[in-house]
Order: sequence, then C-alpha cells, then structure tokens
Amino acid sequence: MDIRSTDTSLLTWTGDTLALGLPEGAIEIAGELAELNDKLGGNLGDLISETEFEGKLGSSAATRLGGGPIRKLILVGLGKTADFNLQTLRLAAAAIARLAKQQKSQALAISLPVVGDQSATAGAITEGLLLATHQDTRFKSTKEEKGAKLETVELLGLGEQKSAIAKAEQICSGVILARELVNAPANTVTPLTMAETAEQIASEYGLSLKILEQEECESLGMGAFLGVAKASDIPPKFLHLIYKPQGTPKRKLAIVGKSLTFDSGGLNIKGAGSGIETMKMDMGGGAATLGAAKAIAQLRPEVEVHFICPATENMISGRAMHPGDILTASNGKTIEVNNTDAEGRLTLADGLVFAEKLEVDAIVDLATLTGACVVALGDDIAGLWSSDESLTDQLQQSAKLAGEKFWPMPLEEKYFEGMKSQIADMKNTGPRPGGSITAALFLKQFINNTPWLHLDIAGPVWSDKENGVNNAGATGFPVRTLVNWVMANN
Ligand code: BES
Ligand code: MN
Ligand code: ZN
Repeated sequence: MDIRSTDTSLLTWTGDTLALGLPEGAIEIAGELAELNDKLGGNLGDLISETEFEGKLGSSAATRLGGGPIRKLILVGLGKTADFNLQTLRLAAAAIARLAKQQKSQALAISLPVVGDQSATAGAITEGLLLATHQDTRFKSTKEEKGAKLETVELLGLGEQKSAIAKAEQICSGVILARELVNAPANTVTPLTMAETAEQIASEYGLSLKILEQEECESLGMGAFLGVAKASDIPPKFLHLIYKPQGTPKRKLAIVGKSLTFDSGGLNIKGAGSGIETMKMDMGGGAATLGAAKAIAQLRPEVEVHFICPATENMISGRAMHPGDILTASNGKTIEVNNTDAEGRLTLADGLVFAEKLEVDAIVDLATLTGACVVALGDDIAGLWSSDESLTDQLQQSAKLAGEKFWPMPLEEKYFEGMKSQIADMKNTGPRPGGSITAALFLKQFINNTPWLHLDIAGPVWSDKENGVNNAGATGFPVRTLVNWVMANN
C-alpha cells in the first residue's frame, strides 16, 4: 500500500473512492460539505439522510456514485469532537480501510480532521490503515486476501508528511513482525526460529546479537531458566539483541520479554479446557520485544536498548523438572517450584538478573504471565506493576499516545507471605487470589535497585475477533507503547 499525504483538498480531489470522517451531531450540509455535496450531485446529503448518519463513533455508510469525478463515497463517524485523540484517527482509518476493501477500492483518498498536528495526524492514520489491512495468510494454501488490495491512499489536506508516514510504516513493521511471531504455531516458531528472527533483525539493521547457548546459561548460573527448558527436545536460546546509537547514548534501557514458544504447563500439565492449544501465544512478550527492536533499529534514537528474550518451551519428558524441585537462579536465590505451570516467572527471573547486570537506567519486562490478570482486566487491558513513579508515568504517557491500555496494579508486599517456602527462599506460586500480583512480587525478587516495570499482557496479545485496529488473531500489543517509551528517552 502506497500512502501519501497531499495538500489537495476534499473539494479538488478526483479519483476512485473518497472517505470522509464526520463528527457526531446533527450534520449540517454547509460550507465545505455543501460544496462537496454540489460536486457530488447531492449524493453526500442523500447518503447522510438515507442512512440516518449521525457521526457516532464506529458508525459508517458507503455508496456508489453513478459517474462523476468520484466513484464511491465512504463516511465514518468520529464521535464527539471534544473526545478526539490520535486513537480516534486510527480507528477511523481502520474502519475506512476495511470498508474500502469491501467496496473493492484500489485508490482511496481520506479526509480526517487534524488532531494535535499534521504529522501526528498522518502518522496515526497510517498506523490505522496498515494495522487494519494486515492479514496473515502464511498458513493458508490459497493466499488471496479478502476484498481488493488497496494500492494507493492519499491523505488529503495534510501537506508533505513523508517522514511521519515513513516512521509509522517502520513502527508497524515491528507490530506486524510481533503479530506474525505470535500467530505462528509452536511447530513453526521455536527457540531456534526465534533466534533466527533475531539474527535477521541484527543483520538487516546492523544490531549486535549475542545468543547464549545452554552451556553459557549454565555457567552464568541461570538455573531457573534452565529448569523450565529441561524437558524440551529443542535447546533453549537466551537472546540478547543490542541497539547502540552512533554517539554517546542519552540513556540505556532494557526490555525483557517472556518467550515460551509453547507452554504445556510441564508436569502440572494444562488440562482440558485450559486453553493449552492457545499456548503458542506464550512468547507474546518476546515477540513484542523483537518487534520493538525491529522498529527501534529503523528509527535510530540516541538511546542504547537491550532486547532480551529467554526463549524455551515448557514441556514434559523424563527429564522434566518435577513439581517440588528447587532451582537456583543466577542471583543465587533458591526457588521451590510448587507449580511447573508458573514457568514464565522462572525464565524472567534470570532474564531480569541478566538485564540488571548490564547497568541500564531502566528495565521493562513484558509477559503473558497469568490467567489471573486476564480475569482482573479482561482482554483489552494489560496490568502494570512498578515501584518507580516516573517510569510508570513515562510508560503510561507512551501507552496513551499509542492507544494501548495498561492499568496500574499494586506490588502489595504482604501478599509475598503466600510465596514463602519452608525449604527454599521462596515458592514460585502463591494462593489463587491476587495471582497476577504474587507473580509480579516474585519477579521483584530478581531486581535490586534499577527502576523496573512489569507488564502482564496475557489478555491483549490475542484477539478472537476483529477489535479496533486489530483483526482476529495476534495483535502485536504492546510494540507501539514500547517504541514510544524508548523514543521518550531520546
Ligand atoms: N502462560 C500462562 C498464562 C496465560 C494464561 C497466558 C492465559 C495467556 C493466556 C502461564 O504460564 C501460566 O500458566 N500461569 C498460571 C499460573 C498459575 C500456575 C499460578 C495461570 O495463570 O494459571
Ligand atoms: Mn504456564
Ligand atoms: Zn506461560
């Protein structure tokens, strides 16, 4: 899809399909709309009245125009003007792209209001278009996409926005990589192929990559990560991808993503109805980490970023860790594994210790960590834990810009009592209540004093149906927030 912005106005554009966003309220055909209506032979007014179009958020209307300078007209509702933000633009662009495909439009022009400034507007519209039209057909024998392929899109009245559009395209390439990694099943995406993906990013964009093989993880004392990896026939890969800017970096950051390419539960195996068949998504944190790396590598901020994915499967075999085993993590802490299905936190324990040794200014981890977080916050909102207020503010600001949602959750120290072990320093799970909080408290044991923030993304990495800018399947959440966070440190 070729996206261009132009100074051409709504009134002078001619071509295949024109899409127009209108705010909520009694729509008056006056001023520019009246002129457009004249140009379209009264069809705009007719479409509005015949479909009782009121500009409500999520509403839309479309019609063919017999002959004339424009072939088809699409209207999308933008909701109340006072509520406009960048997400309004993304959602409108997504709705327009889907309708245009249905209408078999190949050349489209979009007229939407400016929110913030023209470049932010062009960026948000581009994101909405690219994310809503991405379809993962890799696993279909016939690759034809539904609807027509949108070839060209012109963003009207925004002037020259080449760099804003290119930036949005780069960010979306990272989101789409994350989606593809999560969509791909566990017989396609394994620790080995995740390592290959990291290699591709490194070689394409000039990042450095260190892959720690099992022996090296052993010598670093990563007993928690390796305990999880034990039963798999596929060797674990601890991926460390590094983006370094040309000059002295303004900040050094680390992103650590849970990278379980499959989570069977281990000997505490996931039973029927547990959603075991969806556990290919359990590398969603690592997928977003690699997606963010791909985007950051293209955006080239003056920030050093370490992308860390401790990749493995959680399987069963004669070599599997037993429930009750005691593991020693790379910071020397001992863990009684009272549940082998709480494996993500074990892999992240060594991931976090490794990240802190890099002497970074801040660490963000992201993980499809607990079903409890999905129960608490549902499918659209991720949980956020941190004892660092300014890091929390930075992340929330980045999330708001991205239109991705995180809700602050408590690091309630008292709940750690439930993780106390008779025999080791701690157990890996506590009682069922507050399950996402005890998981976060567990991770906190592996951080000394670096500002740290934990995201439980078990809900939003996946969507069973079309939802906002996402189609059914992997969402690529929260690549855009991570990218904004790194860029906020630039
Ligand atoms: N990968 C799961 C969490 C998960 C659940 C991700 C649903 C995506 C959707 C995690 O490893 C897990 O199994 N967690 C257990 C923890 C329990 C054993 C304390 C859970 O949530 O049930
Ligand atoms: Mn598990
Ligand atoms: Zn898991």
